[in-house]
This record gives sequence, structure tokens and C-alpha cells, in this order.
Amino acid sequence: MASPAGGVVIVGSGLIGRSWAMLFASGGFKVKLYDIEQQQITNALETIRKEMKWLEQSGSLKGSLSAEQQLSLISGCGNLAEAVEGTMHIQECVPENLELKKKIFAQLDRIVDDRVILSSSSSCLLPSKLFVGLAHVKQCIVAHPVNPPYYVPLVELVPHPETAPATMDRTHALMRKIGQTPVRVLREIEGFVLNRLQYAIISEAWRLVEEGIVSANDLDLVMSDGLGMRYAFIGPLETMHLNAEGMVSYCDRYCEGIKHVLKTFGPIPEFSRTTVEKVNQDMCMKVPDDPGHLDARRQWRDDCLMRLAQLKRQVQPQ
Ligand code: NAI
Repeated sequence: MASPAGGVVIVGSGLIGRSWAMLFASGGFKVKLYDIEQQQITNALETIRKEMKWLEQSGSLKGSLSAEQQLSLISGCGNLAEAVEGTMHIQECVPENLELKKKIFAQLDRIVDDRVILSSSSSCLLPSKLFVGLAHVKQCIVAHPVNPPYYVPLVELVPHPETAPATMDRTHALMRKIGQTPVRVLREIEGFVLNRLQYAIISEAWRLVEEGIVSANDLDLVMSDGLGMRYAFIGPLETMHLNAEGMVSYCDRYCEGIKHVLKTFGPIPEFSRTTVEKVNQDMCMKVPDDPGHLDARRQWRDDCLMRLAQLKRQVQPQ
């Protein structure tokens, strides 16, 4: 089967590499899975087969091709130079370790041409550190997915200061083509955007629980049965816009109050052992922290996300 425009190479066949492979195949792209461990490639191909068959049966397989057609697009390759030959996009998914990733990109830099995109899945390493000194730096970008990427479509695109605008545009278009939702982070910053927002929430959640204002379980309910309900569909800025007669009206009415509350926020939490243990106790009442219970709860979370993704497709036809 012909790939739309050249194939994709995944470097690192772990959790995230496997998800990318499935997403690219759903868009009709040929995918080569590379890993330093041959067994990881074998495991990845098996897991992907099972997962795709299950997704097809449950009506959640992405793309217009059948599971068998998508599976025929994915193959393993134990030789990096062979894998990247003629590819248009390389998605690096090795563990989050700066030195390891730098080594991989230096290796790739020596063997790629001037057209391929070199993309990292890094959650928090800055492009200026990751891609420093590479001859092909203009073709480098971070494309940070959110776990589990098959159900959570967001991808943060973060450029190196020397990344060419065409690299950002091509990666953006590619992400759209495989059904993901890319956002352009215009300048690199610690934590990118998603984790900055997430850490702001964690920070205030921690302070509120530590200060005894609310229990850990009720804090989580504020998000899952409150703010999170609308945030699955509209962001905080659109929420402001809709919660009055537009953004200007909202700010006229509420910004003084917001500033008043913000001034009462405390310092960065220390995450002291005492509070960690107290919060952990509360969490374990709901989900004991042994692998069996944690895995079952993750499975439930992913099922919920899959159904939410279906609902979002129905209410927001693209
Ligand atoms: P993982 O540990 O599941 O998989 C890493 C894979 O890389 C393994 O298969 C390993 O054998 C392979 N590997 C190690 N050294 C290699 C080398 N020199 N050459 C080729 N392959 C090599 O890791 P995971 O969770 O898939 O994470 C990958 C990247 O994705 C990390 O940068 C992580 O920060 C990022 N990420 C992870 C998320 C998560 O929730 N797990 C979410 C978003 C991004």
C-alpha cells in the first residue's frame, strides 16, 4: 500500500513509540519501528496488533483503513541507517534522558538528508538543549504528545530558536493529517504549556489540601466533576468569554476579584514527606498502589477517555 508522502520512523518502541506508530498508520503512513532492544520491537508489534484488533471490534479504530491494512503498514527494523532511508519524519521516543537523546540526534544528524523532520517526543527537555550543535537544527522540533496519545489528541510543537518555520508548518500539517490536535508553542519555555498549566493546578491543589481547606478526594472532585467537565470542551479563556457578555465584560466584572484571590496564593509547595504520605493514604483508599489496582484504574481511565473522544467527535465534527 502506498504511503501518502514517504514513511515515518519511530526511534524507541516503548509506550509512546507504539502509540505514535498506531497514529501514523491510522493516517495511512508507512511506519518503521526501531529500537536498541530487538525484543522491544517484537513486543511492540504484538501489542499493536492486539490493540488495533480490539479497537476495531469496539468501533474505536482511527482512520479509514481496516486494522489489517493499518497493521500491514507497520514493520520493525533493527538498523537505524536502513530505517531512516527515504523517510520524511523521524519521531524519537527514547527515555527522557538528555544525554541519551542528544546521542540519538547526533547519530541521526550524520545520516539524514536535508528534507526529513527530526522530532522528539520529550515531555520537558528544551529544544535548545536537545538539538544543540546539530547540522540539521532547522529540521528539528519537539512534538510532545499527551498520554495516552491515541485518545488524547493534543501535541505541543516546540521549536529550537533556529527551527525553520517550514519545519513547524510541516509537523503541524502532519499532526492534523493523523487526527491529532497540534498547538504551536511559539518560543521554548520550561514545562512547555501543558505542564505549566498542570503544575499551576497541582501547586494550588497541594496548598489547599496541606492547609486543611479541603480533603484530597474532594479536591479531585472539584476538577473531575467541576472544572474538568467544561475543560474537555472549552478552555479557560473561552470559559471567561462565555461566562459574561464576552471577554471584555468578564474582565470588567471579575478581574479585580480574581486578582484579590490570586494575591492570597501561597509559595511553591515543598511536597513535604508528611503531606505526601497523608495524600497517598487518601489516594490508596480509592486506588491501592499495587500494580494490579493501578493498572485496572488506568484501564478504566483509558476507556473513559476513549468514550470522551467519541463524544467529542460527535459534537465537534471536524
Ligand atoms: P519507554 O521507556 O516506554 O520506551 C523507551 C524505549 O526506548 C524502549 O523501548 C527502549 O528500549 C528504547 N531505547 C532506549 N535507548 C534506545 C536507543 N539508544 N535507541 C533506540 N531505542 C532506545 O518510554 P516512553 O514512556 O515511551 O517515553 C518516551 C518519550 O516520550 C520520553 O521522552 C517521554 O518523556 C515522552 N513522553 C512520555 C509520556 C508518558 O506518559 N509515558 C507522555 C508524553 C511524552
